[in-house]
Amino acid sequence: MAGLLSPLSFAGLTLRNRIVMPPMWSGQATPDGGVTDAIVEYHRCRAAAGCGLVIVEHSFVHPRGRASATQLGVHTDAMIPGLSRLAAAIKAEGAVACLQISHAGPRTSTEVAGARPLGPSATRHVHNAGGELPEAATLPQIADVVAAFGKAAVRARAAGFDAVELHAAHGFLLSQFLSPLANARDDAYGGSDENRQRLHLEVLAEVRTCLGQDFPVFVRLGATDETPGGLDIAGGCATAAEMVRGGVDLVDVSGGLQGSRGTGTGSGYFVPYAEAIKKCVRVPVIVTGGISDALMADGLVREGRADLVGIGRAMLNDPDWARKAIASLLPR
Ligand SMILES: Cc1cc2nc3c(=O)[nH]c(=O)nc-3n(C[C@H](O)[C@H](O)[C@H](O)COP(=O)(O)O)c2cc1C
Repeated sequence: MAGLLSPLSFAGLTLRNRIVMPPMWSGQATPDGGVTDAIVEYHRCRAAAGCGLVIVEHSFVHPRGRASATQLGVHTDAMIPGLSRLAAAIKAEGAVACLQISHAGPRTSTEVAGARPLGPSATRHVHNAGGELPEAATLPQIADVVAAFGKAAVRARAAGFDAVELHAAHGFLLSQFLSPLANARDDAYGGSDENRQRLHLEVLAEVRTCLGQDFPVFVRLGATDETPGGLDIAGGCATAAEMVRGGVDLVDVSGGLQGSRGTGTGSGYFVPYAEAIKKCVRVPVIVTGGISDALMADGLVREGRADLVGIGRAMLNDPDWARKAIASLLPR
């Protein structure tokens, strides 16, 4: 039975183990969204510690989808040389390098995005009462977002990344479109489950058109809003299945409107959702959330509850987490 240290091959990739550095914004980009030495080192040293997969922090695909002034960007070709340096540094340490590409949607401000935040509807989302009122995206604006994801994915590949991950979690734009609480549209993008999934599937289709069928594409899916009236896990599973049908190679399970910490407490608070999604898809599933113990992470893989395990804050606090985990799990 495979464990945390077992290699994993899928979609043309081979990971040396199942330890994942999940995407974690580090607030170290240049004012125009460029890579800095600090960002390279932040990811490189965690790759060097032995992670199988490093998913680089969320990178905005469009200026209007920029979440913060210190966020990494993949919105212009000018970003490619810096991103190439980042991808090369991660890969030189033996990890697979993936870039998370994102549009913040309502989770930004006019000050950062240069225009009013864009959302499915002009409603404040339930867990961000103090945020700016978003503007409901028009159909041309939606088309613009879709195209921006495709171009960003092409830049990621040109920069040498092995994979891209679509950010569809944490109340960012895609997550809001999927949520019945945030999406009050009455056009083709709202109303039914199918319509609320439309933006996910259009973004994925555009990325596939731009990259072809062979380049690995992952999704970080907000699997449930954990909020009455919001997306539930059945909706999360259905969306995961649709995305796999549309060509996604891996599902990285996280939270929806409630964010990456969800409402759960304790270790592995998203494990039940990862298990549910694993039952609906035949691609690898990552679980992340409150996991810091190597034995527990190993157990999750051995018990088939997830295929890979993301270690976020524990790896932030200790860049050597993977090295220590590997040493502790190797037979003595
Ligand atoms: C400082 C920080 C930055 C984060 N940035 C991102 C990000 O860019 N994209 C994303 O999908 N999740 C982001 N997250 C969420 C983490 O990837 C992870 O899902 C979350 O921290 C829960 O896992 P943990 O309990 O192991 O930390 C961030 C988390 C932290 C603490």
